Amino acid sequence: MKLILLHFLAAATASAFVLSPQQTWTKLILTHHWPTTFCGMEKCHTKIDSWTLHGLWANNGNDCNATWHFNVTLIEDLLPDMEKSWPDLLNPESTKFWKYEWYKHGTCAAKAESLNSQHKYFSKALELYHKMDLDSVLKKFDINPSKQYYPFGHIQDLVDGFYGAKLKLQCVHPPESADYQILGQIEICFTPDFSLMDCERETREKPVNSSVKAQAKPGFSVCDPEVPVYYPPTM
Ligand SMILES: *[C@@H]1O[C@H](CO)[C@@H](O)[C@H](O)[C@H]1NC(C)=O
Ligand SMILES: *[C@@H]1O[C@H](CO)[C@@H](O)[C@H](O)[C@H]1NC(C)=O
Ligand SMILES: *[C@@H]1O[C@H](CO)[C@@H](O)[C@H](O)[C@H]1NC(C)=O
Repeated sequence: MKLILLHFLAAATASAFVLSPQQTWTKLILTHHWPTTFCGMEKCHTKIDSWTLHGLWANNGNDCNATWHFNVTLIEDLLPDMEKSWPDLLNPESTKFWKYEWYKHGTCAAKAESLNSQHKYFSKALELYHKMDLDSVLKKFDINPSKQYYPFGHIQDLVDGFYGAKLKLQCVHPPESADYQILGQIEICFTPDFSLMDCERETREKPVNSSVKAQAKPGFSVCDPEVPVYYPPTM
């Protein structure tokens, strides 16, 4: 009995150490996308040939506070960097994308004191994005957009080895019975104190036959380790 109580106390202390009373998330996900793949999916046009920010997501909750309105004035000093590092690929002149990300993810991330203002949230995302410098890391390992395919494991092993944590690589799976998948999104995960941690990678989905694939909604899902990866050059 004593032993059980001790275990219970230890567990309670450990979680109190990680979570402040307000905070309900345990992981942050810094999501990058490859503009050419995104635009292939969404039918936009882009000339951007670097990995850009998609968002900084807390692992628990969406749309946590609808009354906490997005106000671009609060991040005015960040705008030059936002436009470059976190562009809205669908509406390049608008702030819609940032507003969407704030309501959906920022208001949840903001439950932690370290991210409890719009300025803190957006500047931390930019800071992590620059610190991780995914674009240079891929180039450094000679993983460049190319007409040739990469073995999936080659890319995964190099980035995991470099960061010392497991990244989540996501692909678009062409609907036809293609022999490749298109690299589109890369997630890097952090603890609440912004240390790198492993991203979870759900187990591989069962291979689906082409008639099932054709009905699937296009979108990103975890890359299939057995299918060659196409990293499309920017037109
Ligand atoms: C939601 O945001 C508003 C505006 O910042 C704030 O006053 C309010 O306390 C927040 N509500 C919750 C539940 O956090
Ligand atoms: C946006 O923030 C600025 C700076 O704090 C403030 O002056 C302005 O009233 C806010 N706008 C809205 C619509 O809340
Ligand atoms: C593919 O899946 C569909 C729907 O489940 C099925 O009707 C069809 O026979 C399957 N085709 C092959 C080649 O397995």
